[in-house]
Amino acid sequence: MANGKPAEDKTFVRGLEGVVAAETNISWVDGIHGKLYYWGYDIHDIAEKVTFEEVIYLLWNGRFPNRTEWETLRRELASEMRLPSQVVDLLKLMPPNAHPMQVLQTAVAMLGVFDPDSGISGPEANLRKAKRLVAQVPTIIADLHRIRKGLPLISADPQLGISDNFLYMLRGAPPEEIEHTVMDLIMVLHTDHGLNASTFAGRVIASTLSDMHAALAGAIGALKGPLHGGANQKVMEMILQIGKVDMVQDYIAGMLDNRRKIMGFGHRVYRTEDPRARHLRKYSEMLCEMRGFRELYDISHKVETLVREQKGIYPNVDFYSATVQHAMGIPADFFTAVFAASRTAGWVAHIMEQYADNRLIRPTSKYTAELGIPFTPMDKRS
Ligand code: CMC
Repeated sequence: MANGKPAEDKTFVRGLEGVVAAETNISWVDGIHGKLYYWGYDIHDIAEKVTFEEVIYLLWNGRFPNRTEWETLRRELASEMRLPSQVVDLLKLMPPNAHPMQVLQTAVAMLGVFDPDSGISGPEANLRKAKRLVAQVPTIIADLHRIRKGLPLISADPQLGISDNFLYMLRGAPPEEIEHTVMDLIMVLHTDHGLNASTFAGRVIASTLSDMHAALAGAIGALKGPLHGGANQKVMEMILQIGKVDMVQDYIAGMLDNRRKIMGFGHRVYRTEDPRARHLRKYSEMLCEMRGFRELYDISHKVETLVREQKGIYPNVDFYSATVQHAMGIPADFFTAVFAASRTAGWVAHIMEQYADNRLIRPTSKYTAELGIPFTPMDKRS
């Protein structure tokens, strides 16, 4: 004891910065060198070369699938995309101003109730749940969008992969070749990212031996915040608010002078460029040009240049993913849900890894109030 407080109170790391809180094989962020690895593979070596389903297989099995394994997983996922009718009814009940991430979190919790393996744990049941969640989350997002637009719902095409099916169910037409490439790239790049806040939240919940759907709903709640996945929506709002390239300078100066955060910039771990931003920047420019939104890319690029020069910080994954998604016709309030659709594969990988070698995650806190305050009964309080 020191100053009446237990000795364990002395070590406190604000925001757990730099604290090693889990062992994992799934992914690693090397913030010094700006590298991201999925099971040892450098993201630059696999992005634009592998499909989302190959990455899902890698995250769950520690190796890439052969063609038969890939086809089997692709078929299994496509066959699990349909939602229980009760969950579709829930989506219809949601008020139109509910944020898609609120709806997604609620719908995922409800999927847990109707899951055929509800109440069953163990590696086989959890793998089946993982497949269903990866398949059903994109359907929730697409169905919600169409319900809000008053459009009929579209069933997944068993011939298509997850990314193509998502765009097909969202917009009612199969994606063009470039959209196929870009949507799958978005899914691959967002799939996993070390012990980020939402993954940690999911692992904490899993460590209590609560079920996979509960852990996933918690992770979705963490991703929703603007300091995490919610930043992509805020980036789009900022770019549209700036409106013109020649307004960027004043806007950024105003933000930095007022010590306000520029959304889509900075990172807890990266001290250099987020490697995912490099791929997304390229497709942001290409798609904005193709779709007549060149100025949105030019605004983004100027924001990047000025923030780098004036603040020395770099864009993160959320910065260019905003204009990429916008150019594909995805509404801004759905951007974070698209991030969640991809990250679901990573979250369930971590949840299964946690179950496989579990110890309750239960840190301690530094107590800052007084100790031993004398109690006053209510009728004696002023
Ligand atoms: N704009 C302006 N200044 C910034 C920004 C930013 N986006 N990010 C960090 N800084 C400054 C911050 O003001 C502080 O400066 P000073 O030391 O002069 O006070 C310094 O950099 C350290 O910032 P911090 O907020 O203490 O760093 P952190 O590690 O706690 O925060 C972060 C990391 C991602 C929350 C933060 O960079 C941020 O708020 N960025 C904007 C939101 C965002 O883009 N989030 C997406 C994160 S990556 C994808 C994901 O996980 O979803």
